[in-house]
Amino acid sequence: HVLKDYKNLLYVSEAGIGLITLNRPKALNALNSELLKELDDLLDEIARDANVKAVIVTGSGDKAFVAGADIGEMQSLTAMAGREFGKFGQQVFNKLENLPQPVIAAVNGFALGGGCELAMACDIRLASEKAKFGQPEVSLGIVPGFGGTQRLPRLVGKGRAKELLFTGDMIDAQEAYRIGLVNKVTPPDELISAARAMAEKIVSRAEVAVKLCKAAVNRGLDMDLASGVAYEAETFGLCFASADQKEGMAAFVEKRKPVFTGK
Ligand code: HXC
Repeated sequence: HVLKDYKNLLYVSEAGIGLITLNRPKALNALNSELLKELDDLLDEIARDANVKAVIVTGSGDKAFVAGADIGEMQSLTAMAGREFGKFGQQVFNKLENLPQPVIAAVNGFALGGGCELAMACDIRLASEKAKFGQPEVSLGIVPGFGGTQRLPRLVGKGRAKELLFTGDMIDAQEAYRIGLVNKVTPPDELISAARAMAEKIVSRAEVAVKLCKAAVNRGLDMDLASGVAYEAETFGLCFASADQKEGMAAFVEKRKPVFTGK
């Protein structure tokens, strides 16, 4: 079903999977403030929607996922306004990263600057063979401002991140796969079906456990190892309060498929 009418986004949810399409094709889906506000609002709606158990994010058209933050809008920003623009985008991407549901980016074309940063705020990235990634900000006289200097080294390591950040070079999907920036590369016309297949598999698992896995990874990476494993122990214990733990283990012992309820 369609949730709301947005100007710069398309959103449909079906069979437990929400599909967000960034939709400013004439500007290669560049992120302007209006789009970011709509995304912020949509993420709040999705977080509250118990029917949505996984989310896919993609770009409209066959050329771009997102070609970055809107350069026209940023061009005349003051230092103060630039900081606010950056902070707002960061806040939206943090919300996406910490959405209770798992989020898969289906990167269908250019993912540059804020577009690469958006993909990195998703849990898992699938890329079309036509996708291109990069952080070209230094060519514009700026640094990445939507988390790129932080999430890129966490995903691909310090050295590779610094090369991409300092040179501004674009890399293709295969290279992004090689360095661990994307999980999988598919032919362009199979991208959305591959994302759906992965989302369906995730949705078929115990929902509470999937959500707690996400929280444990996200929270744990911000902690030292001892605190992270302590947090994991809490989430592990919590699973035993779920009906799906009882069902999952009973099904195994009875040699049948589990019927999960998400409770
Ligand atoms: C605004 C953009 C845009 C962007 C493309 N467009 N990227 N508009 N902001 N980031 C617009 C173009 O102006 C053009 O509009 C239309 O989209 C099609 O783009 P073309 O350049 O004509 O297409 P092509 O020649 O195929 O080149 C594709 C491209 C190029 C290589 C992706 O568009 C490009 O280099 N874009 C900018 C990429 C970039 O530097 N991104 C990082 C931005 S900084 P018209 O009206 O002319 O048809 C950033 C910072 C994030 O993201 C943090 C902020 C705090």
